[in-house]
Amino acid sequence: DLTVNEGKIEFTNVSFQYPGTAEMVLEDISFKINPGETVAILGATGAGKTSLFQLIPRLYDVTGGIVKIDGHDVRKMKMENLRRKVGFVPQEALLFTGSVKENISWGKEDATMVEITAASVNAQIHETIMNLPQQYDTRVGQKGVNLSGGQKQRLSIARALVRMPKILLLDDSTSALDMKTEAKLLGALKEYTCTTLIITQKISTAIEADRILLLEDGKLLAEGDHDSLLKTSGLYKRIFQS
Ligand code: GTP
Ligand code: MG
Repeated sequence: DLTVNEGKIEFTNVSFQYPGTAEMVLEDISFKINPGETVAILGATGAGKTSLFQLIPRLYDVTGGIVKIDGHDVRKMKMENLRRKVGFVPQEALLFTGSVKENISWGKEDATMVEITAASVNAQIHETIMNLPQQYDTRVGQKGVNLSGGQKQRLSIARALVRMPKILLLDDSTSALDMKTEAKLLGALKEYTCTTLIITQKISTAIEADRILLLEDGKLLAEGDHDSLLKTSGLYKRIFQS
């Protein structure tokens, strides 16, 4: 078993407003995530889940409080190191016109075919790619083959995995996957031993995680695993039963 000692995340009293707006999107959020943990972020639309993710690779800076990775304030880290450590799979999978291979190695042009294939296997998209007319050389995007929402999501996960991030942020990236494929994906991610944060609207995904953070209206309402949240959080119980 590998020792996992990188990929710790700490939020301390974090608040956030989008620049130039008055709305408090996140309020006084504090939590710790240990290296290697898989944590689900659950919450209604507009709760602030994507906003919270954006603070980790510094797509935005906090308004108050501190975000730390492995003990370092992200604002004091070199952007290059930060972006290498954190893989962010956005809510909308963005593919450009080009081959499957180019889409996966985007931003890491020196990726080898072995690395690209391994990332695709783990992202549960390799078999689909092998069934395309020109496999990894097949064109996607405009004038390319049409991929389903779930296939695009997995390609965009492969793009993050090929960079071997210590922290993987999946923003609702498994919404279009069936339960079996999702379970296989999450199992494969564990092999990467990276810390995984997964935003989800699905209770089935949350149950699989080591821990769940429940957001409501920009506040961290509850945290714990499925069994403990069922006992301690009325909102979690209502989501579970709905
Ligand atoms: P879903 O993706 O719909 O599940 O919601 P979410 O939990 O990811 O919420 P998100 O973090 O996107 O939004 C939280 C609040 O911030 C909402 O009130 C949004 O309207 C607001 N918001 C989100 N993105 C932006 C942005 O780019 N600019 C501004 N000004 N507000 C934003
Ligand atoms: Mg969102």
